[in-house]
Amino acid sequence: MTDKKNTAAPAAQPAAALEAGEPILRLGDVSYAYKKGGPLVIDHLSYSFDTGRVTSIMGPSGAGKTTLLSLISGLTVPTGGRVLFEGRDLATLDRYDYRSRDIGVIFQSFNLLPGLTVLENIMLTMDASGKRFDRPKKEIALELLDQVHLPRHYADERILHLSGGEQQRVAIARALSDDPKVVIADEPTGNLDPATQEDIMAIFLELAHEQDKCVIIVTHSPQIAKASDTVFELKARR
Ligand SMILES: Nc1ncnc2c1ncn2[C@@H]1O[C@H](COP(=O)(O)OP(=O)(O)OP(=O)(O)O)[C@@H](O)[C@H]1O
Ligand SMILES: [Mg+2]
Repeated sequence: MTDKKNTAAPAAQPAAALEAGEPILRLGDVSYAYKKGGPLVIDHLSYSFDTGRVTSIMGPSGAGKTTLLSLISGLTVPTGGRVLFEGRDLATLDRYDYRSRDIGVIFQSFNLLPGLTVLENIMLTMDASGKRFDRPKKEIALELLDQVHLPRHYADERILHLSGGEQQRVAIARALSDDPKVVIADEPTGNLDPATQEDIMAIFLELAHEQDKCVIIVTHSPQIAKASDTVFELKARR
C-alpha cells in the first residue's frame, strides 16, 4: 500500500495533510443548519475517524446521524467548521472526485437500478468513477460478490428479483467497486433478520480489519454497536 502522507503535497494543500497522527477523517467544530439562521442540526461537533476500525454512530431519531453522513460524504457542506479528509478541507477539494474515488456510500434505500442485473449495477458505478482498472471490470465485480458473501450465480439476476438482504449486499459491493478508503452506510442492517445482520456486520469488520478501511455506519442496533470497534453517540438536540 502506498502511504500518501509521505509524498510531497502540492503547495496549495494545508500543512496538516503531512502531520503524523492526522486521522483519515476529522470533524473540526462542524455545525450545520438546513435553513439560514435555523436550528443547528449538527452543533459544533469535533470527532476523528480512524482507518482499520468500524465506528458505529448511534443516537435518537432526529439527532442528525444521516445529516452527519451527508457532511462526511461531501454531499453537504458544513455551515460552520470543517470536514477534513487526510488533513484536507473537503470544501477545498473537488468533491465529485472525492465521492467517486475516496469514499463509498451505502444509502438506506440502496439506490440500485431495479431493472438492471447485479453485475450491471456494479459495473455502471465503476464506469462512472472514471477510474482506470488494471483488470477486466467483470472480474473485479465477481470478486466483489465473493467479498459480500453473495453467490456468483446472482451476477446476471435483476435487482428486482433479489431479497432485501441480497440487495444490501449488492449495494455494499457497488460502494466497494472503486476501492475507497472510507466506507459509510446508513442503517445497513435495518429490516434484516438477525443472522443476515450479523453477516453484513462481519463484512464491515473484514473491510476494516483486513483491508484497513475506515468504516462508519449508522445503527439503532445495540448488537451492531457492541460488535463495532468504536461507538460514537450523537446526542438528541436540545
Ligand atoms: N432536507 C431537510 N430539510 C430540513 N430539515 C431537515 C432535512 N433533513 C433532515 N432535516 C432535519 O434535521 C434533523 C436531523 O435529521 P436526520 O435525518 O439527520 O436525523 P437522523 O438522526 O438520521 O434520524 P433517524 O434516526 O430518524 O434516521 C431532523 O430534525 C430533520 O427533521
Ligand atoms: Mg437517519
